[in-house]
Amino acid sequence: MPKITYIEFNGRKHIVDAAPGLSVMECAKQNGVPGIDADCGGGCSCGTCHVYVDPPWQARVGGRNAIEDATIEFASGVEANSRLSCQIKLTDDLDGLVVRLPESQR
Ligand code: FES
Repeated sequence: MPKITYIEFNGRKHIVDAAPGLSVMECAKQNGVPGIDADCGGGCSCGTCHVYVDPPWQARVGGRNAIEDATIEFASGVEANSRLSCQIKLTDDLDGLVVRLPESQR
């Protein structure tokens, strides 16, 4: 079962066990991690599930798909390592993943 670390903008960490097959967004919601609103429920149309993938994990997580790339424009503070967490599916390969939450989602 992959372990995921979410780090709020204020530095508070949430380390949770994730069931493979969930998205990073779904895992956050199931575990009460604050700062991921996910207004569209994972439909890749709201941009309120924005996270920064910790640089050492970027290659393994991969880049944004085309729809995600268009939707993330609704988010603020977008960086090269920004992803919409509803679009990152958790696998055992992502055990130890670290994502940070943007200031706008405090
Ligand atoms: Fe809406 Fe991810 S939950 S874009």
